[in-house]
Amino acid sequence: MSQLPYKTILCDVLVVGAGGAGCRAAIEAAKHNLDVVIISKELLGKAHTSMAEGGYNVSLGNVDPLDDVETHFKDTVVGGAYLNNQELVEILVTDAAERIFDLEEVGAVFDRTPEGKIAQRPFGKQSWRRTAYASDRTGSEIMVTLTEAIRKSSVRVFDEVFATKILVHDGRAAGVCAVDLKYGDYLVFRAKAVVMATGGAGRIFKVTSNAQLDVGDGYAMAYEAGAALIDMEMIQFHPTGMVRPESARGRLVTEAVRGEGGILLNNRGERFMARYYPQVMELAGRDQVARSIMTEVLEGRGSPDGGVYLSIAHLPRSVIEFRLESMIEQFADAGVDIRNEPMQVSPTAHHFMGGILIDTDAQSTIPGLFAAGECTGGVHGGNRLGGNALADTQVFGALAGKNAAEFAKEHGLPPVDRDEIRDEFVRLEAMLLRESGISPADAREELTTLMWNDVQIFRNEEGLSRAVKELRRIEKEVVPNIKVDIQVKRFNPGWHQAIEFGHMVITARMVAEAALMRKGSRGAHFRTDADPNDDGLYNIVIRKGDDGEMVLEKRDLVITKIPPP
Ligand code: FUM
Repeated sequence: MSQLPYKTILCDVLVVGAGGAGCRAAIEAAKHNLDVVIISKELLGKAHTSMAEGGYNVSLGNVDPLDDVETHFKDTVVGGAYLNNQELVEILVTDAAERIFDLEEVGAVFDRTPEGKIAQRPFGKQSWRRTAYASDRTGSEIMVTLTEAIRKSSVRVFDEVFATKILVHDGRAAGVCAVDLKYGDYLVFRAKAVVMATGGAGRIFKVTSNAQLDVGDGYAMAYEAGAALIDMEMIQFHPTGMVRPESARGRLVTEAVRGEGGILLNNRGERFMARYYPQVMELAGRDQVARSIMTEVLEGRGSPDGGVYLSIAHLPRSVIEFRLESMIEQFADAGVDIRNEPMQVSPTAHHFMGGILIDTDAQSTIPGLFAAGECTGGVHGGNRLGGNALADTQVFGALAGKNAAEFAKEHGLPPVDRDEIRDEFVRLEAMLLRESGISPADAREELTTLMWNDVQIFRNEEGLSRAVKELRRIEKEVVPNIKVDIQVKRFNPGWHQAIEFGHMVITARMVAEAALMRKGSRGAHFRTDADPNDDGLYNIVIRKGDDGEMVLEKRDLVITKIPPP
């Protein structure tokens, strides 16, 4: 097929993704008087960050004066099962305070203590009350504020645009190929520096708290471009997702419910966390609480719908109504008054601790390609503390934006390869032209069910081997045969899902292959058949080899302060 028509957009810094990290990166880059473009798969402001509920970790010591940056560092590394890159953790905990003040400066309103300071609540596995919040809609408050700031800035916004491929020239990032989701036009964005901020991939699992569009675009594009990724096997299953109604299955029930004093009960009315983590009970790590819940369910002590009960009926009404107002609404929609009745909850795929490997400048292994937020790996190790994700978006978003701007000032615009662009658009067009094939909806159902059944909280060799084998087959046999039902480019969600499916498969394969390689249990990766000789104290780096095959290697941990015991 000859060259398909496309429009080219030139800029200095291109930010791909418009959640908390992407918006923060764009705002920072624009301070350097550069031409900054942000592309958003959704309408600006609708990214998954707006669904984050409980809060933002920062050691202000406003409620517990003994809290400090060192304790935040230690909690993060211990919580991460020592797999974190400690250089990145240092940046997270040090810069979290400045970045929350930045948010306040542009209008974000956090709840206050009686003295008027930013209030802080307890979250799991943290030594002190450290999690700043805006009721139970903290992410929404942050996104509204950042969106407003973007609108007031010089940043050029392209919303409902889907990046499909990173362009690399002579080993350097040069831009992306993309599709305008409304009109179906092909676009090429060329830039001196690119920031990936594409979020996570909870949607590769059947049950997830993630927004529809979180399918792993950034992981797959970075992999295809030749960047290294790290610890992709480390998936956080948030302990408390909604169970009913089926249409809301997996939707987040914030950790703030337990932080404010909610208790978990089984079908005998037992507060079962006493059996597993009696010291910290419901505020054990997310991986620990999720496994405890699943053990109750698997041993027959769960609720009729396959979950357990989360109750706050004993809390003062004022606490529930003021600090958990979204939860009241969310469950009222399901016919449950949480002030009087327990919620049914069970684990839900929530966060990727792994992702694009970055250095302390937030630069990937490809020069000129920066990354921030959930699409990166290394900050959170084997298990992320609740509340560290929002801080991560702001800290590393700002860092990536600043360093991408510096890079753009020092380098010219790289050329792009017209043949590579042609091949990409021909690949996308083929999904529309194929006369027969597999529907994207059927393909997604197969993949998400496989991941949920075989790459879940409790993992073993048999299930992981099956998943890897099936994913390799899907990559070879299903991806090249995806066929869209309606053959139009304008407003065609079937086509968008078909394009996304390729990203989902690459992401899922990285998760399953790394999980199979890691024989011992560590952090969120729990093997029921764990090899006692594998202490798990290494990272797994993945990249695409020169022969096109997926290459996995163990790498030494980056330890600056706290060695594993
Ligand atoms: O439970 C929550 O509110 C989620 C917070 C987080 O993932 O950081």
